[in-house]
Amino acid sequence: MPSATATPDLFAAEPPPSPSTAWLGPQTAVLRGFALPAAGLLLDGIARIAAQAPWRRMQTPGGYTMSVAVTNCGAFGWTSDRRGYRYGAVDPLTGHPWPALPPALLQLAGEAAAAAGFGGFVPDACLVNCYAPGARLSLHQDRDERDFGAPIVSVSLGMRATFLFGGLARADKPVPVPLEHGDVVVWGGVDRLRFHGVRPLHGAPHPVLGERRINLTFRRAG
Ligand code: SIN
Ligand code: FE2
Repeated sequence: MPSATATPDLFAAEPPPSPSTAWLGPQTAVLRGFALPAAGLLLDGIARIAAQAPWRRMQTPGGYTMSVAVTNCGAFGWTSDRRGYRYGAVDPLTGHPWPALPPALLQLAGEAAAAAGFGGFVPDACLVNCYAPGARLSLHQDRDERDFGAPIVSVSLGMRATFLFGGLARADKPVPVPLEHGDVVVWGGVDRLRFHGVRPLHGAPHPVLGERRINLTFRRAG
């Protein structure tokens, strides 16, 4: 078909591999590469969040300092100190409300939830975790949220990590799941309270993020 103007061939380059889905449970999906197209926007959003609500390593009620550095965005943010874990509308470090959820983050969370079978997910909290080599997260359940009807949407950026996905009992042996830059895990419904954690970060630096892994977990907290 002749055309008066030259049309650039948008499809000349190899297309990226199409995202694939693996199921870790009846209502737990690993959406491989799902966040890759939005990764640049997500990283811009994270930089703006950390400029307003700085990274910090929190104390646990047991008296440990978490190896993971955290911040939050959304109406509610998750914090921990010697008194316990909680969601609150104000960043205790700055005294200001948590930064708003950037539209690109909100959109990705909704699309990922829908792809895993959870339509209409509108998170009101996003915990942002930053892992340096050696940082880990011990097995835990996400149970500080008020609404277990909504799923957890977890987005991985930066270095590869080994995510551990367990059962509903702490003693259930977790399955190791390697997560790469751009992978998204969604768990909800009957799997909403499954134990999970992250092995100590190690291995090759990421071309963009260097010796870091950043994880976003979107929740319905309030
Ligand atoms: C979390 O459980 O809060 C984070 C999980 C992860 O970093 O993959
Ligand atoms: Fe968690």
